[in-house]
Amino acid sequence: MKKIALTGIKPTGMPHLGNYIGAIKPALKLTQSCEARYFIADYHALNANKDPKSLKAMIIEVAAAWLAAGLNPEEAMIYRQSLVPQTFELLTILLAFTPKGLMNRAHAYKAMIQKNREDGNDPDDGVNMGLYTYPILMAADILLFDTDFVPVGNDQFQHIEMAVDIAQSFNFVYGAEGFKLPQPFATEDTKTLVGLDGRKMSKSYNNTIPLFLPEKDLRKLVMKIVTNSQEIHEPKDPDSCNVFSLYKHFADDNQIADLANRYRAGGMGWGHAKQELFEVMNAVLSPMRENYTELMQNQDQIERILEEGSAKARELAAHKIAELRKIVGID
Ligand code: TRP
Repeated sequence: MKKIALTGIKPTGMPHLGNYIGAIKPALKLTQSCEARYFIADYHALNANKDPKSLKAMIIEVAAAWLAAGLNPEEAMIYRQSLVPQTFELLTILLAFTPKGLMNRAHAYKAMIQKNREDGNDPDDGVNMGLYTYPILMAADILLFDTDFVPVGNDQFQHIEMAVDIAQSFNFVYGAEGFKLPQPFATEDTKTLVGLDGRKMSKSYNNTIPLFLPEKDLRKLVMKIVTNSQEIHEPKDPDSCNVFSLYKHFADDNQIADLANRYRAGGMGWGHAKQELFEVMNAVLSPMRENYTELMQNQDQIERILEEGSAKARELAAHKIAELRKIVGID
């Protein structure tokens, strides 16, 4: 039996290269060895996005981005959290097994009350219950599908540990194996993609390269990557260079070795290195960009794919909920 891999994708706008290398690509690779279940976490996004037009658009965009990048709905289940109502029934069950103190320790919540304190505000300012219980909804997403692996960045590890805690306390109370215990699945790449300024690529640093830019704009951004002030003739160190660090994710082994030699030999300027980077990046991204454009012109098709995937997810979820209802005595 294949192991089950599941992850949630928050609809927060066009993914960037960091999301592609750190999340999308490894998740697509996992679909070869695991039974994959990937979903748009639209109700998770409601905590922060209360503009209906933008939320609706982002749900479609992020689904289009994953499909364009190679997610095959025949091989992996792709669905919308909001179209699987059993998620919210499980959330209600899990609420009864989640100590309030566990939620008090969640990083995102702690960071918010910490900031409120520093600003001299009431610690609970701007904290809604959706944010406070975010990890429990995420546990419901995961536990509903007997998940083995959750491919996520390390910023999400705490949430998975919490899902395990909650699952264990349920299993302990009933002396039953109601829930399988999930594990985070991290790839090295998640930690390493640098942004335009050399820090980790992240929307919050405003240093990202969006995944589907027109070719011209992509080139412009690549030319903006920060380098040192060495001149053309000087030999350069590939291992401490932001351009090279990005290059390694898009080039093959021969190309990587080649460019490293040209760095060390001297005689190559930063403009040349960036041009090489742009070319390998564009070679990977152009076919995806074409898929994306085509999908965005056929949004009905995207919705149909999501509806079909959600119907399959609902069927699995219904079985799980029936089993859990029996265990707790509400059947
Ligand atoms: N919290 C995740 C993020 O911010 C998204 C998410 C929601 C998720 N539910 C999930 C990830 C379940 C993995 C499993 O990216």
